[in-house]
Amino acid sequence: MPGNRRNARADPARLPITMKTHDFIVVGSGIAGLSFALRAAKHGSVAIVTKKGAADTNTAQAQGGIACVRSEEDSFDRHVADTLDAGAGLCPEDVVRTIVSEGPRAIDELIAWGVDFDSRETGDGETELDLGREGGHTKRRILHSKDTTGREIETKLLAALRETENVTLLERHFAIDLITTARLGFATPPRCVGIYVLNEDSGEVETLRSDRVVLCTGGCGRVYIYTTNPSVATGDGVAMAWRAGVEVANMEFVQFHPTCLYHREVKSFLITEAMRGEGAILVDQDRRDFVKEYDPRGSLAPRDIVARAIDRELKRTGRPCVYLDITHKPKDFIAERFPHIYETCLDLGIDAATEPIPVVPAAHYQCGGVRTDVNGATSLAGLWAVGEVACTGLHGANRLASNSLLEGAVVSDRALRDALAKRPPSKPAETLKLPEWISGNVTDVDELVVIYHNWDEIRRLMWDYVSIVRTSKRLQRAATRLQNLQREVQEFYWNFRVTPELLELRNLVEVASLIVDSAARRRESRGLHYTLDYPETDDKNWRKDTILRRF
Ligand code: SIN
Repeated sequence: MPGNRRNARADPARLPITMKTHDFIVVGSGIAGLSFALRAAKHGSVAIVTKKGAADTNTAQAQGGIACVRSEEDSFDRHVADTLDAGAGLCPEDVVRTIVSEGPRAIDELIAWGVDFDSRETGDGETELDLGREGGHTKRRILHSKDTTGREIETKLLAALRETENVTLLERHFAIDLITTARLGFATPPRCVGIYVLNEDSGEVETLRSDRVVLCTGGCGRVYIYTTNPSVATGDGVAMAWRAGVEVANMEFVQFHPTCLYHREVKSFLITEAMRGEGAILVDQDRRDFVKEYDPRGSLAPRDIVARAIDRELKRTGRPCVYLDITHKPKDFIAERFPHIYETCLDLGIDAATEPIPVVPAAHYQCGGVRTDVNGATSLAGLWAVGEVACTGLHGANRLASNSLLEGAVVSDRALRDALAKRPPSKPAETLKLPEWISGNVTDVDELVVIYHNWDEIRRLMWDYVSIVRTSKRLQRAATRLQNLQREVQEFYWNFRVTPELLELRNLVEVASLIVDSAARRRESRGLHYTLDYPETDDKNWRKDTILRRF
C-alpha cells in the first residue's frame, strides 16, 4: 500500500535525504498568488507551485475588471452597501469595509507593477481612469483594460516576477496534499508544514517544506458541465484543505454568470457583464426585455436574479438560449471597448454590431471556500487561503461583479503581513523530520476511460441536480451518486500511479460533495442558493454561514 497517501507517521528509517524548504509556498499563479509572491520575496524565498503554465489561471480569463472606489461621485459607503446588498445578508460588514477601503492602495500597487488600466480624456487636457459599470453597482467603479483585464494583470505581474529575486516558479507541478503535523502524528500543535507535489515532467512526487503555505488555487467551475472557467478550475485548494481537516464554508453559493456564449463548438466563452454596463440588454427571441418582468433593474440586476430569470425563461419556452443585444450601439464603440468579444464572435459568424449574441448562464464563481478571516488565515496554523479558493465572507451569498480581483489583491497583502507576524520561532517545517512520499506497488492507470467517464458524470449530474434551481430530492440523488463515485475514485487513487487527471478527478468529486452537502443543509433560499422546497429566505434561522468541519 502506498505510504504517505495514507498519511503514514514519520518513519525515521525513511528520512529524506534532500527536501526543499522555502520561507513561503504559494499554490496557484493568479492575481492572489502572484501579488503575494511579489511582496513576500522581499522577506524570504518563495516557491510558486502551479499545475500548468504560469498564465493558465482564472485571473487571466477575467474580462470585466476590478471594482474599486476611484471617483469623487463614489464612496466606500456606497461600494460597501452594494456589496452587502448583493451578498443577501451574509457578508460581514467589517470584512467588506476593510477590503473595499484598502482597494485604492492595492490598485496603486498593481499600477506600480505595470498594470495598464484604460483611461479617458476629461476634456480639460487631463486623463482619468475610465470606470465601467456592472450589475449590482450603483456607481461606475470598474477599472478595466478593454475586455481583457485579467490578461493584462496576469501578464504584467508575471513580467514583474521575472525581475524579482528569491522566487522559484514551479510550472507543471501539481499540489497533491498538504503536509500537516496532525496527519503525521507529531505531538506538536497542529499546523501545516508543507505540501506534496507531483512534478509532471519527471513523474516524481516531491516534498516541499514551509511554515507558511498559501493556497491561491482559484475555484471549481469545472465541477459543472457548462462553465465560463478554464480547465484548471477543479477546486484543488478546497479539496486539499478539506482533506487536511481545515474548515470550509458556504460552498452552496456557486455563482452562475448570466451570459456565457451559446455556441455548439465554443462552450466556455464569457460575454462580460460590462457589456450590460454599457447598455446591452438581455432579450428573448422576440427581442422582449424579459428580465424587467423579474426585477425593475432589468439586465443590470445582481447576477443571481438575472441567471434565475434566464433559467425560468428557458424552461418555460423550451428554447436553448436567450440573447444579449447591443446592436443599438455604434459598431466602432463595440469594437473599441470590447475587441476580444467582438472579434471572437465575428470569427464564429456573429456580428455583435448587427445581431444579438446568443447566451446561456454557466457556472462562474465559487463564493464559498476555505474559511478564512480577512487576513486569509485558515483554521489551520501555517495555512492561508486567498482569492476564489477562500471564503472571507466578502461575497456572502452572492458575489458583486468584479469584487473578486479586488479581494485577491487586497487580502494577499494582508495575508503576507499576517504570515510575517505569525512565524513560529521553532521553524517546525525545517526541524521536524517529514517523511517523503511513498508510492508503494502502484501501476499506471490501466483504463483512462474510467477517469474521463467519471469526470463527465460528475459534471453532468452537478448541472442537472445542483445548479441554478435545486430541490431536496435532486440534492439527495446527487449525494448518492457522488458517494459511489467517491469510492471508485479513491480506489483508483490508492491503486494507480498519480497523474494530473486522476488528481483533478479526486478533487472534483470532493468539491462536488461539499457543494451538495452544504446545499442540502441550507433549508431556505438565499442569494445563489435557490431551492423549490424552501423558496423563501429565512432570516430567523438561516442568516448564517454553512460551516463544514471534517474532524
Ligand atoms: C464579467 O466580466 O462579467 C465577469 C466579471 C466578474 O465575474 O467579476
